[in-house]
Amino acid sequence: MAVKLLFVCLGNICRSPAAENLMNYLVDQRGLQGQIECDSAGTGAYHVGEPPDRRMSAAATQHPGIVLQGRARQFSSADFTEFDVILAMDRDNYWGILARDPDRKYRDKVRMICDFCHQHPLKEVPDPYYGGPEGFQQTIELLLDACNGLIDELIDEGKVAAP
Ligand code: 4NP
Repeated sequence: MAVKLLFVCLGNICRSPAAENLMNYLVDQRGLQGQIECDSAGTGAYHVGEPPDRRMSAAATQHPGIVLQGRARQFSSADFTEFDVILAMDRDNYWGILARDPDRKYRDKVRMICDFCHQHPLKEVPDPYYGGPEGFQQTIELLLDACNGLIDELIDEGKVAAP
């Protein structure tokens, strides 16, 4: 059975759809098709139904083969049982997710995505929404590092088989 990953940010139009689509790209690149399934959601409902932000898509397409797909949806408590690992982009997202788990039953499923970075020292993926294009490019670079690190860890733990 595939490992099911859910990437979560605030609006589900910038960071988490980028993470979802980058991870799908890396799964293909690394020959792991069928072993990892991805989705994304936002803790907020402001952008539900919207496609990824144009600026985020523009930054992603600078990497050949990466196209951002999907529509924003809000995180729900049903996601705790649906997914194996829930990846928060920043601390606010982390606590926004755990706010839906008052008994802390699923706390171990919820992780900060930057904990999987090998190259970048940042501990959170900064919110690029109100900034310039460099913030969107930084999001892509950080997420590539984190998603590759996460795949490495899933392989090390035996949850994903190296090709
Ligand atoms: P995201 O970015 O959480 O990475 O999707 C944001 C999108 C929208 C807003 C904030 C952050 N907003 O305030 O509407």
